[in-house]
Amino acid sequence: MTKFIVIASSKGGVGKTTTAINLGTALTVFGRDVIVVDCNFSTPNIALYLGSPQVPVTLQDVIKEGKHISDALYMHSHGLKVVPASPSLKHKGRIDMKKLAKMLRDLAGEADFVIIDSPSGLTEDTIESIKMGDEVLVVSTPELPAVSDALRTIKTAREHGKTVRGVILSRVYEDELELSKEDVEAMLETKVIAMIPEDETVREAVKMKNPVTHTHPNAPASLSYKELAAELLGEKYVASAEENDNLFDYIMKRLGLK
Ligand SMILES: Nc1ncnc2c1ncn2[C@@H]1O[C@H](COP(=O)(O)OP(=O)(O)OP(=O)(O)O)[C@@H](O)[C@H]1O
Ligand SMILES: [Mg+2]
Repeated sequence: MTKFIVIASSKGGVGKTTTAINLGTALTVFGRDVIVVDCNFSTPNIALYLGSPQVPVTLQDVIKEGKHISDALYMHSHGLKVVPASPSLKHKGRIDMKKLAKMLRDLAGEADFVIIDSPSGLTEDTIESIKMGDEVLVVSTPELPAVSDALRTIKTAREHGKTVRGVILSRVYEDELELSKEDVEAMLETKVIAMIPEDETVREAVKMKNPVTHTHPNAPASLSYKELAAELLGEKYVASAEENDNLFDYIMKRLGLK
């Protein structure tokens, strides 16, 4: 059975798209079939993050022309399937999100997971995106404004009868300026199921137009995304010796000891 997971946060720039493509890639590492869909039409970034801006048929085309959603589905490297939205201004304009929600259901049976990247804000489009999921993962950075926005997202999702599977804390420095995992859990009354460290390889991967989980599989952020994938699958992820060495290097660098 296909599970639809929405990646949401009303705060912008906290790592939703990064999470959508890297969780998707991490799930493929565990042998799952995954489709990532860009439902953020105001800042559609998936095509840019994955280097597929020149696709002949875009998600906007299939919605407008009533085509089958699989016409806008592309195979990315290492088996990740992607339905990108066009970032071109020629495709801007209102999207019928209810029509899209119906079209998305055509992907049921086509993969183990459909991961939906959603827009920031709590606009009608965001709410319609949240409604597309069986489960919602809420992304936040460990700072008060982001956590406050995460609370609004969680409440909105629950008001619409959605299960919030957990919070993903992204861009974590683990310094004294941040809220702790326990603080965030208490404020949100929701479990933090992943902590993704601030990791420069994420930005390198953007430059390489590939998910970091693919370009730097042993990097700390990649490791955390694989742990998140394992958590969602109810499996245990055991890091390899190489991955552990990498993590040690990372911690030493952050402590200024390397
Ligand atoms: N773990 C990380 N380490 C370092 N940089 C990161 C990390 N996660 C995300 N970033 C960077 O943060 C920026 C915002 O990330 P991203 O686009 O995923 O956020 P978003 O929530 O999808 O934003 P928007 O609200 O605009 O859709 C990007 O430049 C991305 O490369
Ligand atoms: Mg985004």
